[in-house]
Amino acid sequence: MKVLTVIGARPQFIKAATVSNKIRRNGNSEILVHTGQHYDNNMSDIFFEELNIPKPNYNLSIGSSNHGHQTGSMLIALEEIYLKEKPDMVLVYGDTNSTLAGALCASKLLIPVAHVEAGLRSFNKAMPEEQNRILTDHISDLLFTPTLTALNNLRNENVINGVHNVGDVMYDAVNLFKERAKEVSKVIETFDLAPNSYILSTIHRAENTNSLERLTSIIKALSNSNKKIILPLHPRTKKFIQEYNLHVGDNIKIIDPVGYLDMISLQENAQKIVTDSGGVQKEAYFLKKPCITMRDETEWVETVNNGWNVIVGSDTNKILDALENFNPTGTPASAFGNGDTSSIITQIIEDHLK
Ligand code: UD1
Ligand code: UDP
Repeated sequence: MKVLTVIGARPQFIKAATVSNKIRRNGNSEILVHTGQHYDNNMSDIFFEELNIPKPNYNLSIGSSNHGHQTGSMLIALEEIYLKEKPDMVLVYGDTNSTLAGALCASKLLIPVAHVEAGLRSFNKAMPEEQNRILTDHISDLLFTPTLTALNNLRNENVINGVHNVGDVMYDAVNLFKERAKEVSKVIETFDLAPNSYILSTIHRAENTNSLERLTSIIKALSNSNKKIILPLHPRTKKFIQEYNLHVGDNIKIIDPVGYLDMISLQENAQKIVTDSGGVQKEAYFLKKPCITMRDETEWVETVNNGWNVIVGSDTNKILDALENFNPTGTPASAFGNGDTSSIITQIIEDHLK
């Protein structure tokens, strides 16, 4: 079988490190296409190097632009490659513009589409991710849901055929790379951090960065906290903090985005995590760290229902209160599969293409 995988943004490199590597280890042919949506070394190359992801066969170098321009440019470039490579299936991950372009281009050429992380819904259609995932799910032939909630979301939209509830590949990734992170990451020493002495934060969602009011409120909360905050800053957020001329407190240490192994290490050693990232909410759960989510809703409702994640939006007081008082106890219940999701996905794709 010949699978063509489309990736382009940071979380997709991490997901591909599990499934794509498994597809190849099973002796299948995979063409890897990087759209170039993320392109800085610490947003792209570092993941390929650290996680042994094969060098992409194609890099479209699409880069940053408005949604229509970015997605449209991907479609044009991908079509040429699909027509040349004639894959049996196109594999996409998550909910970025690269996901939608990869799936839509395949669907138009009648190439079957497999979607990893299908069925997620925030029920907030203003989010570009929600638009991308709904559209991708409705043109996919194989839909791999990470949770029962995602499976039910698809059922509610009458998407039944080809749906497999398989668990979450990001759980595979944490299990796969946790030991290596312990061995090689020096980030704790580099920034002179004592375990459990700091809060780890990430911020990058459009709904937070594109709103002066929301980003101001978030940065104010973090700055007013009496805790040390480590903030590996996404370039989008860096740009907006400068543009809005926001005051950042001395307790916040802004660092460049880090590689996955350093990120696991930073999460494992943090007291709490405060984030708007989808992937980081789950990793906090896998690593038993209290997670404070600076969004108005989450797709990962299991983490909230099991008591390890609290939704605080961008409200300064709610963020501060959770930083001080959110202290879950017990053990997070298993809700994301057994850590063998990439093998299950590979097997299903192989059976489907037999
Ligand atoms: C994208 C995804 C989002 C995902 C995130 C993961 C879409 C619509 N959004 O958001 O779902 O959670 O990736 O991180 O696909 N930039 C750089 N260097 C880079 C990449 C980006 O400087 O290597 C800056 C550019 O100013 C760019 C901005 O970040 O305009 C946003 O990048 P973009 O890929 O459009 O969206 P993300 O916010 O990264
Ligand atoms: N991540 C990373 N370095 C960072 C910030 C995040 O390796 O500086 C990892 C994080 O551990 C998770 C993934 O990137 O595996 C999440 O990606 P992101 O937050 O960019 O996107 P989302 O998951 O919200 O789509």
